[in-house]
Amino acid sequence: MPYALELRGIVKRFPGVLANDQIDLAVEPGEIRALVGENGAGKTTLMRILYGLYQPDAGEIYIHSQKQTFHSPHDAIRAGLGMVHQHFMLFPSLTVSENVIYGAEPTRAGFVDRQTARQKVAEIARQYSLQVDPAAKVGRLPVGVRQRVEILKTLYRQAEILILDEPTAVLTPQERDGLFAILRGLAGQGKTIIFITHKLHEVMSLSDNATVLRDGRVTATLRTAATSPEEISRYMVGREVMLVVNKPPVQLGETVLAVENLAVEDETGRAVVRDVSFQVRAGEIVGIAGVAGNGQTELIEAITGLRPLAVGRIRLEKREVSQATVAGRRAAGQAYIPEDRSRVGLAVAASVADNLLMGFQKQPGLSRRGLLSLRGLAEHAVRLIKQYAIKVARPTEPAANLSGGNLQKVVIAREFAHHGRLLIAEQPTRGVDVGSIEFIHQHLLNYRSEGNAILLVSAELSEIMSLADRILVMFEGRIAGELAAAEASEAKLGLLMAGGEKIRNKN
Ligand SMILES: Nc1ncnc2c1ncn2[C@@H]1O[C@H](COP(=O)(O)OP(=O)(O)OP(=O)(O)O)[C@@H](O)[C@H]1O
Ligand SMILES: [Mg+2]
Repeated sequence: MPYALELRGIVKRFPGVLANDQIDLAVEPGEIRALVGENGAGKTTLMRILYGLYQPDAGEIYIHSQKQTFHSPHDAIRAGLGMVHQHFMLFPSLTVSENVIYGAEPTRAGFVDRQTARQKVAEIARQYSLQVDPAAKVGRLPVGVRQRVEILKTLYRQAEILILDEPTAVLTPQERDGLFAILRGLAGQGKTIIFITHKLHEVMSLSDNATVLRDGRVTATLRTAATSPEEISRYMVGREVMLVVNKPPVQLGETVLAVENLAVEDETGRAVVRDVSFQVRAGEIVGIAGVAGNGQTELIEAITGLRPLAVGRIRLEKREVSQATVAGRRAAGQAYIPEDRSRVGLAVAASVADNLLMGFQKQPGLSRRGLLSLRGLAEHAVRLIKQYAIKVARPTEPAANLSGGNLQKVVIAREFAHHGRLLIAEQPTRGVDVGSIEFIHQHLLNYRSEGNAILLVSAELSEIMSLADRILVMFEGRIAGELAAAEASEAKLGLLMAGGEKIRNKN
């Protein structure tokens, strides 16, 4: 059978980096292909070349055996490609159908024919079982549905080949299952799918074949049915990766974080966190689980100082910090790995070194008599880059040029180095490769062993269950239950997350 898509000898260089080094990739019609590899291996670069966002330095692209040269995504779309971006490119104030047809509106006598547009969008949605209301305003839709709108957009433009770059990173487990059903349906109708992921269980459950990149080269293309997560990670990392964590027993110390009767309101004055009380003690990891949108984000914003409290008190070590600024809480011993790293955690226009040094200006050794020691700063940055294997050509490189996972590592490296008594880690392994997940998990456990307190928020139940000592489940702004790690199971957590039975065992 002729390939739907073939890449031959693709080469792409950036200053100081060979991002794609002679890459060949051939995918059949109706196939679901996973593209995996460590952070910075060149996955996004390759897909951007395929979609016409970057021009390759060498190599050829064939779509249905026709040689193509893409000067822009416009050309790629015309050849039957579609890309679902991770940061959705939708207009929140427009409806679903307005977003879908945007830039490709059907017209009648020179006017946009809204009726035809809406019908056509509804018809495509039905044909591919994409549940979405064409008249709904996009701004009100949950993330999983917005992603469906992005998929609809590509189908409306008659895409035959769909590219998805880490599509599950922002989804809840339920939304992910919905996406997989949609993608299987699309492949069943002959569409070709290429998706990038760091989650090997997703590779195993969704793909027909997996292509592994390492340092810009293809190291293997494996038939999914004949491989294993261990084999894939060996091709990715070049060594065996420990996929389970070993949690040593630890001595509980004094209370580091105490949250009392906390209530938080959203912009419209609606209560989004209600009467939440809990403590995190030195030497323990407390996990917060819940379906996205049940108040976890607002709770963390209130604890870190990004959002005011409506009611309640927060104590960090011996100090009341309920009204303290973010900087005040940081000085009191709070480190924070935020979920939305592009908005809260980083300045992407600044250099990697500057991002690693943010907040360290007052550290002894790095400054003297109010003056920053340039040498000290540079050494500190270089040390962190090496220790966390951050892939960057030089420390002065703008952070914007880093791959997604390497950006995440910059925040993680900086926050661990801050040595706060309390570490708040939100989705700490989102977007990072398996080797780095292992490394970050080990770091979190060491941090705990050193007698610090960790509050961990993660959408990955397996991550929470393997790391946390106690798990709090949030539902509709309240703590719906608490489980000790030893007695937690996906089924029990799932029940609490869905607002089922209330369990609370105090210890
Ligand atoms: N616009 C750019 N300018 C300079 N260097 C870049 C640019 N885009 C990517 N790079 C570099 O190219 C390499 C490959 O990056 P790419 O984004 O393709 O990695 P990736 O496999 O998608 O990684 P991740 O899993 O972290 O998203 C990295 O070293 C990155 O820093
Ligand atoms: Mg990427």
